[in-house]
Amino acid sequence: MKNKLEKYGQQQLLRFENELTKEEKDALYKQIENLDFSYLQVEETEAKSDPKTVSPIKGMEIAEIEKNREKFEKIGLEVLENQQLAAVLLAGGMGTRLGSDKPKGVFNIGKTKDVFIFQTHFETLLKVVEKCGKWIPFFIMTSEKNHEITVDFLKEHDYFGYNKDYVCFYVQEMAPCVDFDGKILLEEKGKVATSPNGNGGWFSSLLKDNQAREMLEKYDIKWINMFGVDNVLQGIADPVFLGAVIDGGYEIGAKVVKKTVDTEKVGLFCKKNGRPSMIDYGDMTEEMTKQRDETGDLVYKYGNVLNYLYDIDLLYKFKDQKLPVHIVTKKVPYIDENGNLLNPEQPNAHKFELFSLDLFEYAKDCLPFVVEREKEFAPIKNKEGADSVATAQALLEKNGYKL
Ligand code: UTP
Repeated sequence: MKNKLEKYGQQQLLRFENELTKEEKDALYKQIENLDFSYLQVEETEAKSDPKTVSPIKGMEIAEIEKNREKFEKIGLEVLENQQLAAVLLAGGMGTRLGSDKPKGVFNIGKTKDVFIFQTHFETLLKVVEKCGKWIPFFIMTSEKNHEITVDFLKEHDYFGYNKDYVCFYVQEMAPCVDFDGKILLEEKGKVATSPNGNGGWFSSLLKDNQAREMLEKYDIKWINMFGVDNVLQGIADPVFLGAVIDGGYEIGAKVVKKTVDTEKVGLFCKKNGRPSMIDYGDMTEEMTKQRDETGDLVYKYGNVLNYLYDIDLLYKFKDQKLPVHIVTKKVPYIDENGNLLNPEQPNAHKFELFSLDLFEYAKDCLPFVVEREKEFAPIKNKEGADSVATAQALLEKNGYKL
């Protein structure tokens, strides 16, 4: 372990070694041994996308979906009736923007009664279960920071009426947090500061968990619907979406909302070098941002709602593929060299994250599937303002929810 620290110039992690009890020392040594230091070799934040490599992607608009709704639904329902679709909820994030130290899913957004974010997802799935007559295997990815509280919370609420035999938790991997000089921080004198390694490791972490892997095999899962915890109107296990992806022969589908105003700051689906991808609004030229087609629609218009369908064969095929590591800048509490715990008010550290979208370029093609923003997109990211509890509450009520 000492060699490892020396090799990477991280001896500061043992700065308080002499103040620790034997148990604390053992725990710290074990943590250091198990920590993946290869993240430290990542140098730059990702390069900006070169607009020259970017071209529009063809999506399926609501009119076309409605025309084929019955056909798509039939195809999708067949997969659900055979229990060959699994849902995967990404719940390992820290939700720092929301400012709660609890997992985002346990956040209560009710006004006159309890309505938890997790509950909205279980209720959506239960409606699909009612429709197809079969339980849908449901994986929930947590991180070591929020696993116990998530599991206890859902047990306590009896999985909001879902069949617990079909719910499987697994834990994602962690990455070290470093200061701006690349030195790993301590969050306690005997504990390295770590954070979940982004949502891109979701499949490799799932395969490392025996129980999760067995569940995939038991039901001979063919499709995975992966989605983020934030959107309380998330249309999960949607047979029409699934049917459209299967009917078109796609390996990946993504629910999207249409950007209508060219100033909206949202990442957009596109092709890069001919492969499905996403472009950050900051990387688009002004011309691309404003470009409209002959119908008057923006050319780059498909905004991400973090609800993807994957053909599982694609996931297996690229399971060992190393995805790019993104460096993100965040506020991370840490122990300074005098042993004081500091809670910085400004971002002070880099975290290393993998992004689930980076797998898209390995698919031959992807179907952006347009959904109505007001019916399927109510994200809770911030405490106040846009994409906050208040905006999500208003959208839920608009959709007939009693809060
Ligand atoms: P976000 O990008 O919103 O990150 O995650 P976050 O950590 O939840 O929130 P902030 O940025 O700190 O405020 C999008 C989705 O990916 C999941 C989140 O739980 C959410 O469903 N996620 C993110 C993970 O499961 N693991 C991660 O390491 C990061």
